[in-house]
Amino acid sequence: MHAYDAVVIGAGAAGLFCAGVAGQLGARVLLLDHGEKIAEKIRISGGGRCNFTNRDLDPRAPHRHFLGENPDFCRSALSRYTAADFVALVRRHGIPFHEKHKGQLFGDRSSEDFIRMLLAECEAGGVARWQPCRVGAVRHRNADGAPLYEIDTERGTVRTPRLVIATGGLSIPKIGATDFGYRIARQFGLRVVPPRPALVPLTFDGGDWAPYAQLAGLSLPVRMATAPLPAAGVRGSTAAFDEDLLFTHRGLSGPAVLQISSYWQPGAPVRIDLAPGTDLAAELRQAKSLSRKRLANELATFVPARLADAWAQRDAAWQRPVNEVPDKALAALAQALSHWELVPSGTEGYRKAEVTAGGIDTRELSSQTLEARTQPGLFFIGEVVDVTGWLGGYNFQWAWSSAWACAQKLGSDTN
Ligand code: FDA
Repeated sequence: MHAYDAVVIGAGAAGLFCAGVAGQLGARVLLLDHGEKIAEKIRISGGGRCNFTNRDLDPRAPHRHFLGENPDFCRSALSRYTAADFVALVRRHGIPFHEKHKGQLFGDRSSEDFIRMLLAECEAGGVARWQPCRVGAVRHRNADGAPLYEIDTERGTVRTPRLVIATGGLSIPKIGATDFGYRIARQFGLRVVPPRPALVPLTFDGGDWAPYAQLAGLSLPVRMATAPLPAAGVRGSTAAFDEDLLFTHRGLSGPAVLQISSYWQPGAPVRIDLAPGTDLAAELRQAKSLSRKRLANELATFVPARLADAWAQRDAAWQRPVNEVPDKALAALAQALSHWELVPSGTEGYRKAEVTAGGIDTRELSSQTLEARTQPGLFFIGEVVDVTGWLGGYNFQWAWSSAWACAQKLGSDTN
């Protein structure tokens, strides 16, 4: 039987960081992962460059960039280990980085830099790592009034008073995502907010989408919003984003859509302004008084020509020279483009989702230490918790901050 001060299951962003920090605080830590390769999600993140945090994150107002049943839950961890703290660590490791837009920080070279950094932190903490190593049953009992967990693994049974679950969410199953964390929570009677794909492309029924499928590959800046979500009980559940939208063969993607998808509830419409910042009705009225060009040509001043052409084909009145289009038809076109409302049939699912919304109900956890309130010695960190960040480095910062908060407790319990 192997014995450790703490066992961390899941060697992704949160698990690696937690193990390294706890080890450096004096805990004897074992880190377990069933994957062949280490930290696959860090490797593929940010298009291979890892958008590792965001300068705009305000820990005093987490509801601005995080969602979940209680976005304020993450305030404590985010303010104790901030984006600036992680940036300082990145600098200490000499990793070059740059800001893209909206506060997003990316590595200059490759995500591998960040994986190497986390492994070096683990090494500095003397962390033992078993990988790949399948994890089986987890049992709990009290030993002289203290919790004791026994974990069956491919390499034997391990005993520890502190078990950290850092197995992430369900997105991208082909690189090792499982429901392990939710199963462990349920085993110990902890509530789980139903998981759902988030930061994910939206899809539309084939027939409804046919007129737009020809636009696949087209990208343009838009303003995109959700309608209020009835009975969702989710604070801050309406949202609007000024970002790029990408047409795909099956639906919509791009940053605007990924952001909105986290707030979208099945059956609800989404609203898109395809010409944000333009009073299209006024512009088209003016064009009518000055021009004899086809309406689609005039429209192409404000939206990409492919979109203008496709849109004008939808109504015979819109296919005429602009000076011949009735005022009512012009107004209808402006309205259709600036208030495009459509109901997605679904999402591309976990196969394409960047994150999983929902997870361990935060009411079950201490916001200071991430320990389960009713199950001493059991901790949940990172994406497995019901805390979901916006696109732009927020999810990694939650992984770092929750891992750090948990590691402080592992370190202080050990000493
Ligand atoms: P993470 O998923 O990183 O790690 C979980 C670990 O647990 C994995 O190593 C897995 O193998 C292991 N595991 C799972 N089940 C197990 C089991 N049963 N037994 C043993 N081990 C098990 N975020 C961001 O802020 N900036 C970005 O640029 C991006 N980019 C991005 C791109 C893509 C394509 C995806 C899919 C996701 C992102 N993200 C992101 C999101 C980010 O990757 C994610 O939020 C964090 O990796 C979550 O960290 P965790 O450690 O919680 O889980």
